[in-house]
Amino acid sequence: MVTPSHDPDPNNDLASFPDASVDLVDELGGMSIAVKALGIDCITRHIFLCADASKPKCVDRESSLKSWDYLKRRLQELQLDRPQSERPNCVFRTKANCLRLCQNGPIMVIYPDGVWYHSVSPTVVEEIIQQHLLCNKIVSRYVLHVPTTVWQNEFDDSRIK
Ligand code: FES
Repeated sequence: MVTPSHDPDPNNDLASFPDASVDLVDELGGMSIAVKALGIDCITRHIFLCADASKPKCVDRESSLKSWDYLKRRLQELQLDRPQSERPNCVFRTKANCLRLCQNGPIMVIYPDGVWYHSVSPTVVEEIIQQHLLCNKIVSRYVLHVPTTVWQNEFDDSRIK
C-alpha cells in the first residue's frame, strides 16, 4: 500500500512556479511563441462544449457543431479569444468529445466558474456570451449546476438573469 507523503516537495513549490514556468517556456523555444500567440497567461475563462462527439448522445452531431461553430465565430468577432490593450484577459474554448452528462445537450461548462449549461444552441451560446462572459450573470434558464461558492461569492442573486 502506498501512503501519500505530506512532506513538501521542493520541486513543486507553487510560490516559485511563475518564474519556473517562464524559464520552462523559454527552454522550449518554439513553444514560447505559441504560448504568447495564444495569450495563455491572459486566459481567465475556459469553455468546454460537447461537440462532434464520437458517440453523440446528448444531441445530434450536426446541432452540436452548429453551436461550436457559433461559439468560435462569436468569440473571434467580439475579440474575446485574445487579449486586447483595453481588456488584457481572454477566453479559451475547447471542443469536448463528451462531458459525461449525455442528455439535453449540447452541454457546456465554464471554468474556473464551474457553471454547467444544457441545451446550448447557438441562441443560448449568444445569451451565455452576453450575460455570463460579458456581464458575470448566470443564464439561469439553462443552468445544470453552479458551485455553491460561485453562487454565494461571485454571482449573487441580483446578478442572475
Ligand atoms: S455526448 Fe455530450 S455530454 Fe456526453
